[in-house]
Amino acid sequence: MTTNMKTFTNIAIAIFASVVMVSCFNDKKPNYQYFPNMYVPVGYETYGEYDIFPGQQAAMLPVENTVPRGYVPYEYENSTAGLELAKAELKSPYEVTEENLTVGNQLYTVYCAVCHGDKGDGKGILVTREKFLGIPSFADPGRNIVLGGIYHVETYGLNAMGSYASQANEKERWQIAMHVMDLKAALNGEPGILETSKASATADSTEVKTSMAGTNKASE
Ligand code: HEC
Repeated sequence: MTTNMKTFTNIAIAIFASVVMVSCFNDKKPNYQYFPNMYVPVGYETYGEYDIFPGQQAAMLPVENTVPRGYVPYEYENSTAGLELAKAELKSPYEVTEENLTVGNQLYTVYCAVCHGDKGDGKGILVTREKFLGIPSFADPGRNIVLGGIYHVETYGLNAMGSYASQANEKERWQIAMHVMDLKAALNGEPGILETSKASATADSTEVKTSMAGTNKASE
């Protein structure tokens, strides 16, 4: 009798417990979170609404007069005058090195060669297939192609040529510009810019000045 009662109570407890556990489960709702901070972010959510922000908007504009990390401001105007000024005075902040030239060569092949050609003679594949016309040779004396000017047109584009500022960062644009100067030298049958930059670093400065003045005259 007593053992029967005991079994009966035990069974009743077991049934009650399982009903309690199962009845509260709703598969339409998320289950229990044992470690809520693994599901719910601790920081503010990008587009979340929080009272402490103006308009309860967590997404706000950048602070005035700040720039994104890695962004380098460029002060020359996007105009013919800006281009002329960049050609006249803008210098590369990076040294001409083997490594910079190699990177520039690779990026040039990716972004520029379709139009300007691997040699920079203006005969890229789009030109030979007559898809694109009016591409100058870098050796065109009327153009006066110099580092600062190349960087300027890479940054802003020039008429039918688009801007490359979103594809190549500041350093990469200078590296491409170095390679373009190498192509120009090769087209003119002159030594590469790695050699000329080394020569100008070691040679007697007055000699370099006069020879540079000479080349400037010739290309004007
Ligand atoms: C879609 C074809 C196209 C591509 C790709 C292209 N360019 Fe050009 N580029 C042109 C055209 C067209 C001009 C002539 C623009 C003009 O003077 O109206 C030009 C002109 C230039 C000039 C001469 C600027 C001057 O001072 O007169 C340079 C330098 C130059 N491009 C460099 C580059 C570099 C570097 C790249 C790659 C990052 C590149 N281009 C990619 C079409 C292209």
